Amino acid sequence: MAPRTKSPKDAIALLTADHAAVRELLGELEKAAMKHGKEAETLLDTIEAELKIHTTIEEEIFYPAFREAASRKDDTKLYYEAVEEHHVVDMVLPKMDKGEVGSPEFAAKAKVLKDLVEHHAGEEEKEMFPRARKLMDKDELTALGEQLARRKKDLKAEDGQTADKDDEEA
Ligand SMILES: [Fe+2]
Ligand SMILES: [Fe+2]
Repeated sequence: MAPRTKSPKDAIALLTADHAAVRELLGELEKAAMKHGKEAETLLDTIEAELKIHTTIEEEIFYPAFREAASRKDDTKLYYEAVEEHHVVDMVLPKMDKGEVGSPEFAAKAKVLKDLVEHHAGEEEKEMFPRARKLMDKDELTALGEQLARRKKDLKAEDGQTADKDDEEA
């Protein structure tokens, strides 16, 4: 088993890394929410963009592959639950009003968004991803990972994001 120099991330590693990044941003937003100023606004923009890209690549690529591979009723149920939870996130995000930054209302919304995303990402990591590892083989997951990475790159480009964000405007 010779270690390869640059092995691409498989689908689950890629999605899990996305989750970790968004969790961290949501933690920062929770802390910044009660303070006035640009920090919470900038965080919210980043979180929105990251969530949009992540849920899009899941809905376009990963979820359909999971559904296709799903062999048990429970797996199909995981698929539908995940899609519905994305819809809930889509409903909550537009309610995050930047004009409210620094208020208890905004802090409450930031907390609800964080709990919601953490619950959803947690279910994927604890239930859907382990099942996906059983339902799909290593090569399939690697190929899917490549597809996800490509689509993610395109979406970032469309969104005007560069690979590294260095907007330092505080
Ligand atoms: Fe998801
Ligand atoms: Fe996810």
